[in-house]
Amino acid sequence: MSRKQDRSVAVVGGGVIGLSTAWRLAVAGHRVRLIDPAPASGGASRAAGGMLAPVAEAWPGEESLLELGTASLHRWPEFAERLGRDSGKPSGLRDEGTLVVAADSADRAELDTLADYLASLGRTVNRHSSRRLRRLEPALGPGVRGGLEVPGDLAVDNRATLEALRAAAEVAGVEFVRAAARGVRSGTVELVDAADPEPGLSGSVVHCDVVVIAAGVQTGALHPALRGAIRPVKGEILRLRARSTSVPPPRWTVRGPVHGRQVYLVPREDGMVIGATQYEAGYDTEVTVGGVRNLLADAERFVPGITEYALVETAAGLRPSTEDNLPLLGWVEPGVLVAAGHHRNGFLLAPITAETVVGLVSGDEVATEAKAADPSRSGGQQ
Ligand code: GLY
Repeated sequence: MSRKQDRSVAVVGGGVIGLSTAWRLAVAGHRVRLIDPAPASGGASRAAGGMLAPVAEAWPGEESLLELGTASLHRWPEFAERLGRDSGKPSGLRDEGTLVVAADSADRAELDTLADYLASLGRTVNRHSSRRLRRLEPALGPGVRGGLEVPGDLAVDNRATLEALRAAAEVAGVEFVRAAARGVRSGTVELVDAADPEPGLSGSVVHCDVVVIAAGVQTGALHPALRGAIRPVKGEILRLRARSTSVPPPRWTVRGPVHGRQVYLVPREDGMVIGATQYEAGYDTEVTVGGVRNLLADAERFVPGITEYALVETAAGLRPSTEDNLPLLGWVEPGVLVAAGHHRNGFLLAPITAETVVGLVSGDEVATEAKAADPSRSGGQQ
């Protein structure tokens, strides 16, 4: 394969995938424009909890996703180290690991099934009694009925990471075009509104060698071959801040079923994020009373101390989901790449997604695990 450098690339989308991809493309020597009306400040990436948990979130039948997620997780420490260096800002990475806990005996049976499944794949998780779990994480309450320790799974402060990615992209020379895209064809991105046309913008069209569509739930509207391939899956999320009277936030990410309903608590320096509901509700991003009530009740079951925290934010995001929960990562047509459909895993999969896009644009070999996400697979598109 002949190497291609110094190509002009337009990345459509300023969430975690678009920013990571634009940054790494610019570092690899390409001329990059990132098209988004408000990069790093909206959409699913801003709402995210920030778990990097391919093992704790593994599911029978999703082995390709587990492989892809694990490969990306292994890239995270180096990715975060470069991100901190290039941006001069904290990368947001936390390495305390995940505890998957249960609220009753049926939930405990579900975790035993998960542990057996992971063991059958050669993945190690440690099973613990509730007493042992509380020794590991004193924030856990007496409502916990045992569970699993997954030491390798990590987490990030999603908003710190987005800010670092925006800064790193800028330092690497990415040019930000603050406009929305209307459509993509080979070599062009048509803009809804280009307030200040610059070189390479003719009228409201950006010309380039390669377009990368990384536009989350908007992706399907941008190219006819992607229509219907990605659907929105709503998730509501809460942000809590510790007060002077609060017990300290958990050190570990805590997640698990409460009477069959999943909840997670992801620590932050000053509190935690609690998430997330999951419904198919079209493009609705209103936060519902029922969603907030269920999240608080379930989180309190695991960490009773949350009642002394301030509830500082409720939000809803739209996960960009595919039929098989793997992203779409590869060529749609010559000159047009897609990097979208990351479902619950945008932050987890950012390093391997960016690496794969750089490889495809530059004509390099890509990681084996990424080949399962080629958009021409069955299950990738409808
Ligand atoms: N990554 C967790 C979620 O989508 O809720």
